[in-house]
Amino acid sequence: MLAKTPPMGWNSWNTFGEKINEQTIMEMADFMVDKGFLKAGYEYLVIDDCWSEKQRDKKGNLVADHEKFPNGMKYVADYVHAKGLKFGIYSCCGPLTCAGYPGSFGHEFQDAKFFAEIGVDFLKYDNCYHPSASNKLGYNRMAMALKASGREILFSACNWGNEKVWEWARSRGIHMYRSTGDIFDSFESICRLSESQKPNLGYSGTGCFNDIDMLVVGMKGKGNVGIESGCTDAQYRYHFAMWCMFMSPLMIGCDLRTISDETHALLTNKELIAINQDEEARPPIFVRDNRGQHDNTICFRHLANGEYAIAFFNPSDKDKHIMLPYYEIGLDPLCGYGFKIRDCFTGKNLGVHKEFFDVKVAAGDCRVFRAQLVKAK
Ligand code: GLA
Repeated sequence: MLAKTPPMGWNSWNTFGEKINEQTIMEMADFMVDKGFLKAGYEYLVIDDCWSEKQRDKKGNLVADHEKFPNGMKYVADYVHAKGLKFGIYSCCGPLTCAGYPGSFGHEFQDAKFFAEIGVDFLKYDNCYHPSASNKLGYNRMAMALKASGREILFSACNWGNEKVWEWARSRGIHMYRSTGDIFDSFESICRLSESQKPNLGYSGTGCFNDIDMLVVGMKGKGNVGIESGCTDAQYRYHFAMWCMFMSPLMIGCDLRTISDETHALLTNKELIAINQDEEARPPIFVRDNRGQHDNTICFRHLANGEYAIAFFNPSDKDKHIMLPYYEIGLDPLCGYGFKIRDCFTGKNLGVHKEFFDVKVAAGDCRVFRAQLVKAK
């Protein structure tokens, strides 16, 4: 089964945009393996828009850009596979992609076959220039074309949340659906996109996940979606932890060749990834929500094996003391149980906390914990 848990990988768009080529992609494959990203779970290397020639060939097939990919796309796919990674590519449900390259409208079965032949494992399918107001049919058609292609290909629909995609993506054979417009490397963008999906996470789960967009962690203002200096390390922590708590796919967008130690440690944080990849794939409860009367968010998730995740997010510009009284998650103070708590960032065991758990959370930062419910004296 594909997408049992949220897909993880790296995508070329956030950093490189149209400036992609064989050498850069192959170097990224090397870094994904050598720097431990594959081991951490990031298995898909995805080439986004701008990889093809502007014209199809005489038979109507897509052709890789001769200058960017002089040895063709199968050569790149073979290299990626030889590294133990999976290979992803991009197309669009309109006649043109968002950047004006040929899209798959009217060529769905032909393109799916081409993708299968070169060894594609993942297709990101964009939403530009499709001919009618509704595009549910276009996505359903490509889902079927991929199934008919003879290869198992994960279907990543990028329709930006149009027509309440969370309500119909699962029934159209889609494995992950972009629910938002494009992310930018700013805290404002991170908060705006993630806030917008809080009401929709109940639809997300095994086989079909809500994709809040690719990560900007570590971009620091560089690249294709950069904004001035980007975000602070604390804000990137907030971003990554939120994507993990929300079960969003984790598609890295920064240049892996130049990342800092902090970025590397964050993107490969085992505890956070384990929450994102929890096999039960249950969406979070919002105990507190900064969209209402509060200026912070407390997020609680049921995990496999009787464990729980608790996360505190402070988007404000002031340090905060935040308390979770357990009656807010339905536990009576006299019930005789407390939470045995471990900090997911420091790995420290914090012992058993009864009746409530309170933490300090710095401005624009978060704290994330894994908890077990235990009898407490
Ligand atoms: C759209 C998508 C982006 C990216 C670009 C490529 O804007 O939302 O993620 O794929 O197209 O042109």
